[in-house]
Amino acid sequence: MPTISCFIINADIRDKIIPGVTHWQSPEYFAYYPSNSSIAGFLGEMLSAVVNVVGFSWITSPAATELETIVMDWLGKALKLPDALLSTILGHGGGVIQGTASEVVLVVLLAARDKILRKVGKDTIRKLVVYCSYQTHASLQKACKIGGIYPENIRILETDSSTEYAISPESLTKEISQDIALGLIPFFLCATVGTTSSAAVDPLLALGKISQSNGLWFHVDAAYAGSTCICPEFRPYLDGVEEADSFNKNAHKFFLTNFDCSALWVKERHALIQSLSTRAEYLENKDPTRFRY
Ligand SMILES: Cc1ncc(COP(=O)(O)O)c(C=O)c1O
Repeated sequence: MPTISCFIINADIRDKIIPGVTHWQSPEYFAYYPSNSSIAGFLGEMLSAVVNVVGFSWITSPAATELETIVMDWLGKALKLPDALLSTILGHGGGVIQGTASEVVLVVLLAARDKILRKVGKDTIRKLVVYCSYQTHASLQKACKIGGIYPENIRILETDSSTEYAISPESLTKEISQDIALGLIPFFLCATVGTTSSAAVDPLLALGKISQSNGLWFHVDAAYAGSTCICPEFRPYLDGVEEADSFNKNAHKFFLTNFDCSALWVKERHALIQSLSTRAEYLENKDPTRFRY
């Protein structure tokens, strides 16, 4: 009986599923971006399936949280990220895995929004301004919708074909000054290392300095190209990431990890926790990491 059902399932997979799959794993697939898995990625998925980890809090599977922290630090070091983004004992930063880069931008936007609203009062949400370019991934627009940012407060900054579609720092400074003059509150900038449509790289150092001096949360989205920066010849593209409040890269792009896995590092993990924590009896536990906040 099991042999017969196995045969039927195999036949269904062959006849009904495989013809309807877009074969991202094929060596002849060149659409969108490289998103191949590997033997290591596949074995990792198998091991995880064997123990069926449920990791919604530390106590529900402590090894999951502990391993996540360790691996995120390894990966951060491989990318030569600044210590402030890693989970050093005395620091306030660290890495956390999200499903996709779209989730990442939502999570950091909410953390940044709540951080500024704690300062200026929650009734001022209609004054909050977000900065990006037309090259920025569409997930930022969606995050703004979910996060209650007014659409008229999303500034699309100028890019320049002579700088290969990178955001112009002058345009950021100009827009921030205009918004402040209008009584608005600039609070979030999303820069990209490797934009989806043209692989443009925004000037992180200059944009980061402007963000710092104006109190903006500076997010660097390296979802697409970030993995390549592990190679020393591409690491210069991340110069200036030390100014970022948050940074992410997709391990499911260029990094031979099964879809989906987006690695996010933040400087101030407390901001995420404050914004997104919920309290319920069944979530209580003696998570040792809690005492670090
Ligand atoms: C630069 C950039 N940011 C964000 C995303 C969204 O990634 P995800 O599919 O993981 O949400 C992409 C996807 O192509 C991307 O290239």
